[in-house]
Amino acid sequence: MLTIQSNVSLKSYNTFGIDATARYLVEVDNDEDIQTLLQLPDVQTFPKLILGGGSNLLLTQDFNGLVVKINIKGIQTVKEDQDNVWIRAGAGENWHEFVMYCVEKGLSGLENLSLIPGTVGAAPMQNIGAYGVEIKDTFERLEAVHILTGQKRIFTKEECRFGYRDSIFKNEVRGEYIISHVQFRLQKTPTFHVAYGDIQKTLDQMGIKELTIKAVSDAVIKIRRSKLPDPAEIGNAGSFFKNPEIPAAQYQTLKATFPEIPGYIINDETVKVPAGWLIEQCGWKGKRFGSIGVHARQALVLVNYGGGKGNDIRQLAEKIQLSVEEQFGIRLHTEVNFI
Ligand code: EPU
Repeated sequence: MLTIQSNVSLKSYNTFGIDATARYLVEVDNDEDIQTLLQLPDVQTFPKLILGGGSNLLLTQDFNGLVVKINIKGIQTVKEDQDNVWIRAGAGENWHEFVMYCVEKGLSGLENLSLIPGTVGAAPMQNIGAYGVEIKDTFERLEAVHILTGQKRIFTKEECRFGYRDSIFKNEVRGEYIISHVQFRLQKTPTFHVAYGDIQKTLDQMGIKELTIKAVSDAVIKIRRSKLPDPAEIGNAGSFFKNPEIPAAQYQTLKATFPEIPGYIINDETVKVPAGWLIEQCGWKGKRFGSIGVHARQALVLVNYGGGKGNDIRQLAEKIQLSVEEQFGIRLHTEVNFI
């Protein structure tokens, strides 16, 4: 049974904890619910916001339309061969709980993505990534429903056009599909990715002599807990901006003025610069403005201490963009979606 609620506070539906109101909200538990919903009179005429965990969202105003909260659950093993296990999960599964399920089953591929807030269905939309791994590395395919026609469609990995925090769902088919299930190919014999950042150092501190999937996951969780605010305690949406990719020549010029500037070589022409470093250099790190601010341990994260307004966070983001542009000539682009 579908229940459409009116005038619902979205505070508990977004990790920033912004108290905006949705004109209508409905929760869908399975494929049939989606079909029933799409056939209801008037549903096609409303603007729709498809919501997973609400962990990559900034609500700058009330939403005068229908919020569709995806609650589709279930995890199944689809098939298995000597090396791999294919797992299909409902879009409404909590991402971290799904990762823990795989870790406990001894399946490798997602352990570096432990503790990322959000849901399974939202993860491919922006090709979530952390500590040298992206979802595209284990992604096999997803099932989606076309909102206008109700038709089901499979998107293969190639069709998803994954890029850095990017996919077809943020571009060509933005807002056109509801993702219902995602399938992953996990490995029985692990391939460990421990070269990124502090992972090896953390494993050493933890006294880990022999690498396991669980140990890598534990190390990632430890690092994330030490740097990133827990949305259950302080409202936030993880990285607010993407790390900018700039021409190698521009990077060299900047390095002459700012010898400390970090950079990761993408290819001969492009270098990725950590936005957190740029923002920190502009003096924003740890700054608080009433109920909002810039996180003290990771300048890439904007926070709502409680009662903050989406528009105030947007304005703070714009000031940060302006100052980074003035000082470094680099335009920061947001990772978070604005509503
Ligand atoms: N840095 C600073 N000051 C800061 C933050 C970072 O100087 O306040 C510099 C340091 O040089 C540090 C470097 O930035 O060595 C990289 O920092 P970190 O490892 O924390 O990663 P990040 O580049 O800031 C990215 C992702 C995170 C992901 C981490 C770990 C983006 C936009 N963000 O952050 O993803 O967890 O790497 O892989 O790519 C998210 O997308 O929401 C997210 C949290």
